[in-house]
Amino acid sequence: MLIKSPNKILPSEITPETLYHNRRQFLQHLIATSATLAISNLVQAKGVLPPAPDTSYLKTLPHIKNHPLSTDESPTSLAKIISYSNFYEFGTQKSDPITQAHQLQISPWQLIVVGEVEKPGIIDIDDLLQKFTLEERIYRLRCVEGWSMVIPWLGIPLNEILKRVRPTSKAKFVQFNSLFDPQQMPAQQQHVLNWPYTEGLRIDEAMHPLTILSVGLYGKTLPKENGAPVRLVVPWKYGFKSIKSLVKIRLVEKQPLTSWEEAAPTGYGFYSNVNPKVPHPRWSQAKERRIGELTKRNTLMFNGYADQVATLYQGMDLKKYF
Ligand code: MTE
Repeated sequence: MLIKSPNKILPSEITPETLYHNRRQFLQHLIATSATLAISNLVQAKGVLPPAPDTSYLKTLPHIKNHPLSTDESPTSLAKIISYSNFYEFGTQKSDPITQAHQLQISPWQLIVVGEVEKPGIIDIDDLLQKFTLEERIYRLRCVEGWSMVIPWLGIPLNEILKRVRPTSKAKFVQFNSLFDPQQMPAQQQHVLNWPYTEGLRIDEAMHPLTILSVGLYGKTLPKENGAPVRLVVPWKYGFKSIKSLVKIRLVEKQPLTSWEEAAPTGYGFYSNVNPKVPHPRWSQAKERRIGELTKRNTLMFNGYADQVATLYQGMDLKKYF
């Protein structure tokens, strides 16, 4: 090591006082940050904080065109969208999917469309990615628990698929099922919900141009935590209607029973339109917390999509049909 004697040190090599103080501040900051990091690593090791999301398997998607119904609000970060997810097949905590969903095999994946249709079909999702022009729809997602996000989805209108299978005149409702595979989805080994996760829409809701089958977000394929490889997105309804990891669409004559209605009929109606005037039995729905923001904002009727969808419910008592 080269040690200089004091008389050989040039003035230019002496740290000025202000820089020295700044450096002290910087070092103090560094020590504080390292302590925080050490604590957060410890917490992570103990499983309190979820690990950073793995996005290395996501593929960039072709043919994207933007959609005029997109909101111009700032999208929530990809990391938050992935790590704050309700996906009960992997556990009831929002951080469970990030530690459990990696085991889900998402290719090949088939979505079957059956029931009251003239031409039942099987859609191969890798094929769909090649053949359809995807649209980017930046939509708000409002959860019944009172939080919301803005998500740049990629997908196709559900009605493009429904028109191809030619619904019969008896097709009044559409029932959706997620994958049932307790090996890959470990929380299905417990009876948290009556598996498979089931949702439903009225046929006109399903055909509405805002309703999409999503196969991606932020320009890439869907993260497993958010329902890869294909999920529904219905932006004017509470988030739980947007069913993940879809395997079956059945057009039916009678209103289907949904998983959440079956589990708690007084809290989760069939329609589940975002309606700030109809409180959940245990909490108000008047406000919401946008993930990443501190102050709450007022929840908008139909999650801000009233101009597009209010006519679907004309003449209906939205307190009764909540
Ligand atoms: N789909 C399935 N199969 N399983 C679920 O547990 N949770 C729902 C919905 N779709 C759920 C599901 C709920 S409660 C919400 S709020 C949204 O997914 C959340 O979607 P996101 O994680 O992409 O934000």
